[in-house]
Amino acid sequence: MKILVTGASGQLGSTFKSIASQGQAEDLEFVFKSSSELDITDFDAVHEELVSSNYAYCINCAAFTNVDKAESENDLAYRINVTGARNLAMNCNESSTVLIHISTDFVFDGFLNTPYLEEDIARPIGFYGDTKYKGERAIINNLEEHFIIRTSWLYSEHEHNFMKTMLKLGAERDELSVVYDQVGTPTYALDLAHVVLHIIKAHSIDYGVYNYSNEGVGSWYDFAKEIFQQYKIDINLKPIRSEEYPTPAERPKFSVLDKSKIKNTFGLQIPHWKDSLAVALKAYSRINI
Ligand SMILES: NC(=O)c1ccc[n+]([C@@H]2O[C@H](COP(=O)([O-])OP(=O)(O)OC[C@H]3O[C@@H](n4cnc5c(N)ncnc54)[C@H](OP(=O)(O)O)[C@@H]3O)[C@@H](O)[C@H]2O)c1
Repeated sequence: MKILVTGASGQLGSTFKSIASQGQAEDLEFVFKSSSELDITDFDAVHEELVSSNYAYCINCAAFTNVDKAESENDLAYRINVTGARNLAMNCNESSTVLIHISTDFVFDGFLNTPYLEEDIARPIGFYGDTKYKGERAIINNLEEHFIIRTSWLYSEHEHNFMKTMLKLGAERDELSVVYDQVGTPTYALDLAHVVLHIIKAHSIDYGVYNYSNEGVGSWYDFAKEIFQQYKIDINLKPIRSEEYPTPAERPKFSVLDKSKIKNTFGLQIPHWKDSLAVALKAYSRINI
């Protein structure tokens, strides 16, 4: 089975690359395309790639992911997250390719205080979330054979993410302040990647929108605290409110995702975020000895 991975040099794309290089998905033939090899905003290039090759699946890991920069770089964020998603959907439709697209908890406003269901109203409060939601709609309107997986707080040993930022700051500073009034669930990219492969290997036709994160709940402060504790970094960590750490983009205060649909549909058992963090930190240590 031939699988196209777009945005292959990013965090999630690199995770799929490492799975493939370790021979953990030998029955699948991956074709990895970085942004310079396949620009998803270029309709003709996407058409050429998808229609000339016989891909069973396209996993879209390409996105404009800088939440703060999206507030000022509106056009670029829209082109990548909306036009790019539409280009993939239209060409997947023509080439009979199933599209697996990754979306975000930032499609929600964060005003609920119970975990978000897939059918809860999406009301993004920032431009990034807005483009990601419009990207979802562009896929749904152009392609029946799609899986849209909304995830949250993605981290791993690859590329840039919160875990690696904390480890870097932990090595440089004695004291650090992290917000404790934004609550969600960290998600290890390797767990998400395995779920995507599980859906592919199951040849599922249960198309639609799914939530996926690790189990459990925490604030960014809790996440940082656990990283420092597990990695044995001694640092004075202070919980602060979002107002004390102003950013160009507002973030949802509560973005815990209800994962019942993906668990029931695919028979999944999801690891708790603290257990997955231990796995990620081990992988990070192996790379950074
Ligand atoms: N990171 C999170 O916390 C988080 C949370 C929830 C959901 N998500 C979603 O999860 C997915 C994967 O995120 P990630 O953390 O792996 O992001 P990432 O590390 O920023 O990777 C995104 C990749 O997309 C590529 N890209 C940008 N513009 C492109 C274009 N026009 N054509 C092709 N590729 C392009 C980037 O390449 P360049 O570097 O060359 O620009 C980069 O390699 C995204 O859909 C994101 O919205 C992420």
